[in-house]
Amino acid sequence: MPVRRRHHSLWTFVLPLFSLQFVSGERVPGYSINTAEEVSAQFGLCVHVPCTFFVPDNEKLSPNAKGLWFKVFMYQDDLLVASKAGSGPNTHQRFILTGDVSKGDCSFSILDVQRWDESRYRFRVEDSIRFNYADIRPFVRVKDVTDKPVISPISSLVAGKEVTLTCVGLGRCSVSQQNISWSGSTSHQNVSVVRDIVSNKDGSTTYYSNLTFTPSREAHGSSINCEMIYVYSRKTIRANVTLDVQYGPIVNINATGELEFDAKENASLVVTEGKSISLNCTVDSNPVSNITWWKGSYKQNIEGVRFTYNTHRYELRDVLPDDADIYFCHAQNQHGNSSRFFNITVKYSPRKPKVSCLTGCSDNVNSNFTSIVNATEGSPVHIVCSAESFPPAELFWSRTGHGVISTSTSRFLTVSRMTLADEGTYMCNASNSIGTSSNTITIQMIYPPKPGQNSSCSMKGSSVVCTCFMESFPAATITWRVDSKEYSGNSSNDKVWIVTVQTRSNCSSNLTIELTDSKKPVIQCLGSNGKGNYVISYNNCEYWSPLNVSNIQ
Ligand SMILES: *[C@@H]1O[C@H](CO)[C@@H](O)[C@H](O)[C@H]1NC(C)=O
Ligand SMILES: *[C@@H]1O[C@H](CO)[C@@H](O)[C@H](O)[C@H]1NC(C)=O
Ligand SMILES: *[C@@H]1O[C@H](CO)[C@@H](O)[C@H](O)[C@H]1NC(C)=O
Ligand SMILES: *[C@@H]1O[C@H](CO)[C@@H](O)[C@H](O)[C@H]1NC(C)=O
Ligand SMILES: *[C@@H]1O[C@H](CO)[C@@H](O)[C@H](O)[C@H]1NC(C)=O
Ligand SMILES: *[C@@H]1O[C@H](CO)[C@@H](O)[C@H](O)[C@H]1NC(C)=O
Ligand SMILES: *[C@@H]1O[C@H](CO)[C@@H](O)[C@H](O)[C@H]1NC(C)=O
Ligand SMILES: *[C@@H]1O[C@H](CO)[C@@H](O)[C@H](O)[C@H]1NC(C)=O
Ligand SMILES: *[C@@H]1O[C@H](CO)[C@@H](O)[C@H](O)[C@H]1NC(C)=O
Ligand SMILES: *[C@@H]1O[C@H](CO)[C@@H](O)[C@H](O)[C@H]1NC(C)=O
Ligand SMILES: *[C@@H]1O[C@H](CO)[C@@H](O)[C@H](O)[C@H]1NC(C)=O
Ligand SMILES: *[C@@H]1O[C@H](CO)[C@@H](O)[C@H](O)[C@H]1NC(C)=O
Repeated sequence: MPVRRRHHSLWTFVLPLFSLQFVSGERVPGYSINTAEEVSAQFGLCVHVPCTFFVPDNEKLSPNAKGLWFKVFMYQDDLLVASKAGSGPNTHQRFILTGDVSKGDCSFSILDVQRWDESRYRFRVEDSIRFNYADIRPFVRVKDVTDKPVISPISSLVAGKEVTLTCVGLGRCSVSQQNISWSGSTSHQNVSVVRDIVSNKDGSTTYYSNLTFTPSREAHGSSINCEMIYVYSRKTIRANVTLDVQYGPIVNINATGELEFDAKENASLVVTEGKSISLNCTVDSNPVSNITWWKGSYKQNIEGVRFTYNTHRYELRDVLPDDADIYFCHAQNQHGNSSRFFNITVKYSPRKPKVSCLTGCSDNVNSNFTSIVNATEGSPVHIVCSAESFPPAELFWSRTGHGVISTSTSRFLTVSRMTLADEGTYMCNASNSIGTSSNTITIQMIYPPKPGQNSSCSMKGSSVVCTCFMESFPAATITWRVDSKEYSGNSSNDKVWIVTVQTRSNCSSNLTIELTDSKKPVIQCLGSNGKGNYVISYNNCEYWSPLNVSNIQ
């Protein structure tokens, strides 16, 4: 309600029309006011104007001292907008004298600032003294709302770690109420809201609300809204933030390629030699994780020409049996680490089998695992075959010239008692679903000389012609004894001629002796191969057939 300006005392100062010429300071000794020259208010919000005033020392303010704020008009009477006696109640609605006038506090607030509130205001005190303070008549300038509500802190949010977001009310309020509420993602845990009002030094109050919650990783990228409702104006201001929730890695791996099936994490994969596969690692984390690929339990780095990888994709080309291992994708950021693996098994056809003699023979395996072994006559012989492969190969034995000799698959081939008939080449055949491979072993028997069928002597004119056959392995050497003289190899003199031929396991020798008298010599043929000796004695009878056959071991 407009109030006419009245002059109550001699001290009252008549205000000029233009106040801009005034500067702060005392115009009348003892009376001064301390407040801002200009106050900025935001439309629809509230503004608080801190203010203190002084009266001369000899003029004490009574507890009922009354303060009045006027809106100053240029061409009409000033308008009383707020008044209050001492610490008593306010008399107006949007304009509130908040200070305790009796204590020299002339602070006031304007709630729900309107455009037309932009004006100059002046303070007047009424007590035993009545005085209009003209030194400073604050100008309240009304602007559009420029402040944005702030939600803080919005950084350093970590999944699983409790955080408190604070939403601070806008405006320099002192008495108005603001309701602050929160809305947004529901994927948080342990959400609680604490509202608080804090008194500022200048007499204004700040409303704020704390939202305490434990963000989940799923909340990353979601938004949280803070809504402020100004109780007086019903104005609503919203703020929102997009949550940047940091979290440790979650790793997923996926294998594709020449596989029997596509596989997911921690699976056992079976891949065939020579094929290619790629492992794909997908890491969900914030911030981005470091990704490392490992091979084996000892975290070997994987390198080489058959491997290519970028951080997410690991490619294995022309797989080899040795590539069978556990392959990890490991991801790490500052919030944790995680890994997943594939256990890769490589299927491959049997490698050339290793065939060797276990017992009963002297073994001599060359680099191709192909062997020729010597077995002793009469002893048992055990041969074993092994072929690297996956899946394990089935083994079959066959014998050159005899066909398949084992009906069940076995690594072992046994000859219970070695005879000449068991000599030969045996083949071990290894086969699995991928392929087959084979290798042989040749068993030869070591035995001492035995006499051949056709050893005999006969007369050819004046000469005696003897033939001697020795069968053995290795082939024997033949020595002739004529009476007490020994002849070996191919030797001859004017009376004796010897021709000897040695094959792998035979030795044959012809002896020709020219007789000079009627005395017939005693003739023996001695075969010897280091494993034993054999002596054939030819008797003196007419037809010179072997009579006495003795074996001298
Ligand atoms: C939620 O609060 C309960 C009780 O205070 C506590 O046991 C639980 O661990 C909290 N959960 C999280 C995710 O902080
Ligand atoms: C609100 O949160 C701020 C920042 O975490 C803290 O300083 C203040 O004490 C909290 N107030 C209440 C009432 O919890
Ligand atoms: C403010 O919040 C209080 C308590 O939650 C409620 O009673 C009141 O109605 C709210 N006022 C407005 C304007 O939303
Ligand atoms: C968040 O605020 C922006 C402007 O600041 C607005 O475009 C967007 O729609 C708001 N989002 C939500 C969910 O309130
Ligand atoms: C593996 O990744 C490929 C893309 O390279 C995708 O097409 C496939 O669906 C994924 N498989 C699985 C099991 O996730
Ligand atoms: C890896 O897997 C993901 C999801 O399965 C897929 O989106 C992506 O295309 C794959 N990347 C490669 C290189 O295969
Ligand atoms: C990621 O790798 C870089 C370079 O090797 C290293 O400096 C950084 O510390 C690593 N970060 C984590 C979280 O391991
Ligand atoms: C896969 O292996 C990793 C690393 O050994 C392990 O942490 C994870 O729990 C495993 N996941 C499953 C589903 O077994
Ligand atoms: C990987 O596979 C091999 C052969 O199937 C098996 O022996 C081994 O235990 C597996 N390793 C793991 C870590 O699963
Ligand atoms: C088998 O015997 C023959 C003849 O004595 C010999 O040359 C060969 O070296 C022997 N083989 C082995 C493996 O002992
Ligand atoms: C191994 O066998 C292959 C063919 O089967 C042959 O070419 C090679 O010379 C053999 N190597 C040796 C050392 O015997
Ligand atoms: C030994 O004599 C026989 C009979 O005359 C003959 O068949 C054989 O070829 C001769 N052997 C040698 C090694 O000269």
